Amino acid sequence: MYCKQQSPNCWRTCIFAALKLFAMQNLRPYNTFGIEAWAASFIEINDATELRRYLVKHNKHAQPLVLGGGSNILLMDDLQVPVFKNNILGKKIVWEDADAAIVEVGGGENWHGLVLWCLELGLGGIENLSLIPGTAGAAPIQNIGAYGVEIKEVLHSVEAVELASGRLRQFSASDCRLGYRDSFFKNEGKGRFFITSIQLKLSKRDHRLRLDYGDIRRRLEETGITHPDICAVSEAVTHIRQSKLPDPTRMGNAGSFFKNPIVPLEKALRLRELWPNMPLYEQPNQQAKLAAGWLIEQCGWKGKRVGNVGCHEKQALVLVNYGGATGREVWALATDIGASVAQKFGVEIAPEVNLWP
Ligand code: FAD
Ligand code: EPU
Repeated sequence: MYCKQQSPNCWRTCIFAALKLFAMQNLRPYNTFGIEAWAASFIEINDATELRRYLVKHNKHAQPLVLGGGSNILLMDDLQVPVFKNNILGKKIVWEDADAAIVEVGGGENWHGLVLWCLELGLGGIENLSLIPGTAGAAPIQNIGAYGVEIKEVLHSVEAVELASGRLRQFSASDCRLGYRDSFFKNEGKGRFFITSIQLKLSKRDHRLRLDYGDIRRRLEETGITHPDICAVSEAVTHIRQSKLPDPTRMGNAGSFFKNPIVPLEKALRLRELWPNMPLYEQPNQQAKLAAGWLIEQCGWKGKRVGNVGCHEKQALVLVNYGGATGREVWALATDIGASVAQKFGVEIAPEVNLWP
């Protein structure tokens, strides 16, 4: 480091700057978009007691951010607040009878690893959620869902540490207020808790297979499976996902960038009159869910590249980093996409991805 004045104060400043740089953590390996941003402080948490002790000792620090697998965040800038990386592991059966079992899982466990473990034990309920990236602790945050199933259907309870006080809190499934890509933790509870473990209630026999999603049936037919079990459903889902979604280890992305918009049924039916092929999924309370991927494709974005970023060629809902993109570039593309969908259809699409900071 070159210092012109060489005064003691200046040396001190330089030494502090060098030490700070040394303590900083590049977050590029920690987010599936593969975006470079630096965290001023990066703390790996291996168990709930360690976390609580840390919070009590450093009770004056800025509100930290909790990081799982980084598969649903967009880094817009360097982070001045501490980042707590969830490494809490462990999975065990804590209760069972002849029909069902409750499994308790450390928040830092890999979600798909958990699905495979459950399949091995013959536990059913999360096979449709195979291959979703990220951690078990993040799963209730947006109520992960895919191929006709949401974690809401099997979530039993959540244990979390309140970041402001270090207090341990238990949430029942209903306390979590799970909805489509939504929960208490994305609203009143936003940024306030570190989920340390979750409990799921899974079936041991007479599994209720969920085959309503057309692609699953087609894949089972293709492979000649007439009497599927939970492993066959998991294999079908894995195959479908691999054929549609970009692998984040090859091309940076965070899955669906936007949520599917929910609009009044009346409005959806009016749009359907203009675009008869528009997918429309009726919801309770005179509402309808539209397919954001379809809306974006109709605006001509699918497969389009703008600099280092683009809209994926097989799934328009997925924005990708071709390499070297910044969070701001991704966000600029997302903003343009949102504006053209609003202009063409009069429908707002909101991001599913969490913007950091
Ligand atoms: P992160 O990205 O690390 O964090 C996401 C948010 O949750 C952040 O706000 C973070 O602060 C918060 N958070 C994380 N862990 C905790 C914790 N322990 N306590 C408190 N807050 C926490 N999602 C689906 O629902 N369905 C899909 O089909 C699906 N497919 C995907 C496919 C691909 C290729 C990719 C890249 C993503 C996909 N996703 C999908 C999105 C993502 O995998 C999920 O949202 C996942 O649950 C995020 O987990 P994570 O550990 O990576 O969370
Ligand atoms: N569609 C298009 N063009 C596209 C993409 C989709 O026309 O480019 C149409 C499809 O033809 C279909 C409809 O949109 O008629 C729905 O498409 P798809 O079944 O692929 O699902 P999606 O609504 O695009 C949602 C989730 C995914 C989840 C899949 C499977 C959201 C925001 N996304 O995508 O979750 O894996 O269903 O259940 O709800 C994620 O959250 O990150 C994610 C990947």
